[in-house]
Amino acid sequence: MSEPKPSSPNADVATLRSPPKHVAIIMDGNGRWAKARGLPRALGHKAGVEALRGAVEAARDLGLTHLTVFSFSTENWNRPQTEIDALFDLLRLFIKRDLARLHKDGVQIRIIGAREGLSTDILDLVDQAVETTKDNTRLTLNIAFNYGGRGELVAAMREIARMVEAGKLKADQIDEAMVSRMIWSADSPDPDLVIRTSGELRLSNFLLWSGAYAELIFMDVWWPDFTRESLEKAIDAFRRRDRRFGGLGD
Ligand code: IPE
Ligand code: IPE
Ligand code: MG
Repeated sequence: MSEPKPSSPNADVATLRSPPKHVAIIMDGNGRWAKARGLPRALGHKAGVEALRGAVEAARDLGLTHLTVFSFSTENWNRPQTEIDALFDLLRLFIKRDLARLHKDGVQIRIIGAREGLSTDILDLVDQAVETTKDNTRLTLNIAFNYGGRGELVAAMREIARMVEAGKLKADQIDEAMVSRMIWSADSPDPDLVIRTSGELRLSNFLLWSGAYAELIFMDVWWPDFTRESLEKAIDAFRRRDRRFGGLGD
């Protein structure tokens, strides 16, 4: 984990902050995990789904209320069609295989992302998963699929512009709270913590609006190797961070 020193004046155990409620993860490094083993990239993605199962369970056990995972970005359409097909097949498989158990475990599934470009069978599957689990309250799992932070903002801007066009809204009435209500991830609170695996140090168009004040943790682990301990480690680092939100802190 890239943790600059001194990380914060808040490293005293007595002053640990509360654990995060909403953790978002950029699940990166499946391809390199596979390459290091001489395996095709698709098997890296398959191993990534296993890691996701573990992360959902760990998130639930560790008392998170929301877990958001970046599973397919709008930029991932730039990949070869065979890889895109493999990623879509894995989403289908994940929902078909895991829906019943997730439902039983009290997990509410939400999808954040553009519907455009997705096939009807995928849309039907995810709609069904969202509908089945909509009353669950233990943990909300937001799957960012066909998601891009800029696209999310453009969609919100269009929605707001339509209201202005229809004469239902004045430009001066647009404020941050309204934009927060219009984005795809409007149903969830802002993430407290964004974790990226694989060692890359960028956001790759993830949660540009809601992640504005999230703590960022970059971990040197490929996503398929991410375990409960990895999540615990990230949460522990979060609890030692000094969050000031532009003020002077506690
Ligand atoms: C993350 O792993 C999964 C997706 C982006 C869909 P990658 O496929 O990006 O793996 P690397 O970064 O090439 O190792
Ligand atoms: C970000 O990872 C998207 C997901 C994890 C789904 P990428 O591997 O696509 O990001 P870049 O290309 O390294 O920025
Ligand atoms: Mg990657």
